[in-house]
Amino acid sequence: MGKLDGRVVIVTGAARGQGEQEARLFAAEGARVVLADVLDDQGEALAKEIGEGRAAYVHLDVSREDDWQAAVAAAKRAFGKVDGLVNNAGILRFNELTSTPLDEFQQVIQVNQIGAFLGIKSVAPEIEAAGGGTIVNTASYTGVTGMAYVGAYTATKHAIVGLTRVAALELAARGIRVNAVCPGAIDTAMSNPAQLDPEADGEAAAQALGELYAKLVPLGRVGQPEEVARLALFLSCQDSSYITGQPFVIDGGWLAGVSVL
Ligand SMILES: NC(=O)c1ccc[n+]([C@@H]2O[C@H](COP(=O)([O-])OP(=O)(O)OC[C@H]3O[C@@H](n4cnc5c(N)ncnc54)[C@H](O)[C@@H]3O)[C@@H](O)[C@H]2O)c1
Repeated sequence: MGKLDGRVVIVTGAARGQGEQEARLFAAEGARVVLADVLDDQGEALAKEIGEGRAAYVHLDVSREDDWQAAVAAAKRAFGKVDGLVNNAGILRFNELTSTPLDEFQQVIQVNQIGAFLGIKSVAPEIEAAGGGTIVNTASYTGVTGMAYVGAYTATKHAIVGLTRVAALELAARGIRVNAVCPGAIDTAMSNPAQLDPEADGEAAAQALGELYAKLVPLGRVGQPEEVARLALFLSCQDSSYITGQPFVIDGGWLAGVSVL
């Protein structure tokens, strides 16, 4: 018996990173998974690998409402219903607030914040029609504390925590639980762009990051996307049946307190 037997879950940003691991784990736990992303080749290859009948890929730019409508329709065509959503897609831009161009700030809001809003708005009615289910929003540790040089990103991640609370209040009576994961530093292309650069010295980049997180993070290492996937699974299955409206930090203890060493 899988923890998600009979469920149909849309995972956004599923072509790589945390979304990929969520799609793999959810399928292994019995769900049929709709992988949604803008990286069509990677997403399609992954869905194929997970297996026809277990996974399907749809092109979805989370910032576009018409894409959401098409994705929900495609999910229902493939698997008959939708009763789960992981709003995972996101982008990161580094800049000092006073140097951030308006269009960069707006782009981050468009994908991270409006993308999560449109996901809730588009999918919640389908989850209700399916008899209830779950939404997991991907915020960040920057959703519960500040971080210099990522002001636009931090603002959107705080907004996602707020959206999570409001959605939980409004959707509880419709049988939908809504929670947020707040990852710290996770070993994906977002925190280590060298993973995407064929010219980069991947080993050197990984070693430098390893040394950085050994100092910063009490557990002494960067987190793995599989670890976040297990938290998203917990929040999507019956193990968390009495939990809604909460942000869950998963950061190796980084936010536990101020280090003196
Ligand atoms: N990696 C970290 O350290 C970290 C920490 C905290 C939170 N997060 C959050 O976790 C989530 C997943 O990021 P990741 O670490 O796997 O990084 P990633 O960059 O590997 O994955 C992000 C995915 O989102 C997709 N995406 C980007 N824009 C999109 C759009 N408009 N529509 C649909 N898909 C889009 C990308 O194509 C990619 O597949 C993000 O929301 C990110 O903000 C990451």
